[in-house]
Amino acid sequence: MRYADLYARSLSDPQGFWLEAAQALDWIKFPTTACDFTHAPAAKWFPDGQINTCYNAVDRHVAAGRGDAPALIYDSPVTGIKQTFTFAQLQHEVARLAGGLKNLGVGKGDRVLIYMPMVPQAVFAMLACARLGAVHSVIFGGFAAREIAARIDDAGAKLILTASGGIEPARTVPYIPLVLEALKTARHTPEGVVCLQRPEIPGDLPSDFLDWHTWLDGAVPADCVALDATDPLYILYTSGTTGAPKGIVRENGGHGVAMAWSMRHLYDVHEGQTFWAASDIGWVVGHSYIVYAPLIAGCATVLFEGKPVGTPDPGAFWRVIEEYQVRALFTAPTAMRAIKQQDADGTYLKGRDISSLKYLFLAGERCDPPTAAWAEDLLGVPIVDNWWQTETAWAICSNFMGLSDPLPMKPGSPSKPAPGYDVRVLDDEGTPVEPGQIGNLVVKLPLPPSCFGTLWGGHERWLETYMSEFPGFYQTGDAGLIDEDGYVFVMSRTDDVMNVAGHRLSTGALEEVLASHQAVAECAVIGVADDLKGQLPLGLIVLKSGWDSAGVARECVALVREKIGPVAAFKLIALVKRLPKTRSGKILRASLRKMADGETVLIPPTIDDPAILDEIRVELQTLGYAQ
Ligand code: COA
Ligand code: AMP
Repeated sequence: MRYADLYARSLSDPQGFWLEAAQALDWIKFPTTACDFTHAPAAKWFPDGQINTCYNAVDRHVAAGRGDAPALIYDSPVTGIKQTFTFAQLQHEVARLAGGLKNLGVGKGDRVLIYMPMVPQAVFAMLACARLGAVHSVIFGGFAAREIAARIDDAGAKLILTASGGIEPARTVPYIPLVLEALKTARHTPEGVVCLQRPEIPGDLPSDFLDWHTWLDGAVPADCVALDATDPLYILYTSGTTGAPKGIVRENGGHGVAMAWSMRHLYDVHEGQTFWAASDIGWVVGHSYIVYAPLIAGCATVLFEGKPVGTPDPGAFWRVIEEYQVRALFTAPTAMRAIKQQDADGTYLKGRDISSLKYLFLAGERCDPPTAAWAEDLLGVPIVDNWWQTETAWAICSNFMGLSDPLPMKPGSPSKPAPGYDVRVLDDEGTPVEPGQIGNLVVKLPLPPSCFGTLWGGHERWLETYMSEFPGFYQTGDAGLIDEDGYVFVMSRTDDVMNVAGHRLSTGALEEVLASHQAVAECAVIGVADDLKGQLPLGLIVLKSGWDSAGVARECVALVREKIGPVAAFKLIALVKRLPKTRSGKILRASLRKMADGETVLIPPTIDDPAILDEIRVELQTLGYAQ
């Protein structure tokens, strides 16, 4: 099938296109309608369909006689464990866990927080929730207590599933104290906590926590329940411009259809083959392409615990590809930059047979052309850039490797829109710009299947944040352009969101934490360029008089780590005397960002005191930023 025809049909005949795509799944009741857009701007996908996502990811493969095929490959250099679960074994584990959840009164619509490292039990837990229609919300292990508490409250969690700790290459991360701290500060109290003791990092189990294995002893396997396609599968929190995370709601039907379509047509990975998304189940890439999509497609999926670069196994990428015959690897450009920095000549690749690898997919941040070119030289496979967001759960733009005519690649571009995404570029007034001109990247409504139609408990916030600026369009929050050939280029965010090592961070959340330090008079956080992580957060801090600057800077770094977590990678601080503001008192963050990027900043006419910009330029130059 040709891209141009397929894409055109997805826009001209969305009902036909998506009902046909829906046939890749097993439905309890096949939908008669693909899209109901009568509640615009939200689209309801497959509104009269009934389905169970866990059944599609697990049980149907067993029912089809593929129970002995590998499903989940756990590879953990940090513990030395390698373990493969077949579809039948996966079904057994998931059904038993669902039985355990039922015993605790968890059922359809209940929210279950999963704060766990990259262990098989975390995947079992996600699928067990899906089996019962309970709504999981996975929290990335690099977040600290405050972030956990925010999610407990917003989701109104009934249960927390956790583990005694995570294992980072250089240290262990005990989870129990973080969960206890979160429970202390949260306003909402979950009914229970179940904890998986890990022998590598045992923890003291509080008396009111259940032990995972004891809990599951004798649990009766539970079956898949029938769900409406529009019932929520999960909530995944992501950073917005303020400190309060946004709960992206994913529905069962649309998500399943997009997952199945993308595995086949975009990633070109099929039943019986192995897919590896080197990400974390705490991020959307992990939800979609470690757990749901490969399993729905009947593939084996790799769950890798640790960092595939550096210690303890610097050649892990190539070893895992060889060992499990990985057909497609999906990771963030930052991981490739890390290898490029540590092993530019590919020493660790020598002697490895990675001929199974057909593609390297990169997403999560802008893919810089030199890194893509280096990776292509090293691996000799196409490097495919995807642009997507937690809000969508699959690519907005990509190349489509399963079609008969993959597009010619253009360096720096994630190629062209996926089916159903009518991507446009508008200026700030909402007028379409000429090809090649930078503006706001928006998507004409309705959004295709799998994209969110609300925020958990925050439909007004959804409308306001995403749908109000350009009526009739979804505002992606990204700026970019579409060239004469229809290729999309994503350049930067239009809001105060940063992208650090492919992880999305809110400058607002960081500023809230810094401002809570008693010595900080005011502050602004901006993203500055970094060779490895793409961007790093830099805090510009004005101290109250009488405070010791070095001491406060150290405390601020520790405070962000304690409140938000190590994932913020917050280590850079510039102490400044003042911050540039408009006459109405708004901090000129855009000017600061441009200056740190080495761009020439014209003095904005609204600034209250132009000399401040020069003072800050000097501070940034001292740190190696700004011209
Ligand atoms: N639990 C606890 N802490 C964690 C964590 C977790 N699950 N994940 C990361 N952290 C910590 C790290 O240990 C590090 O702490 P440190 O300051 O004590 O060193 C900090 O958070 C920052 O982590 P990270 O940004 O990942 O940097 P890194 O130097 O540890 O690793 C890369 C850099 C490039 C190797 C790594 O980010 C990577 O492999 N990224 C690509 C894959 C990916 O995550 N993609 C996401 C979206 S596709
Ligand atoms: P997240 O929701 O964490 O996946 O982050 C989504 C954001 O990451 C997007 O809005 C972009 O800013 C950025 N992003 C993701 N993929 C790409 C890409 N291929 N090119 C450029 N930016 C990207």
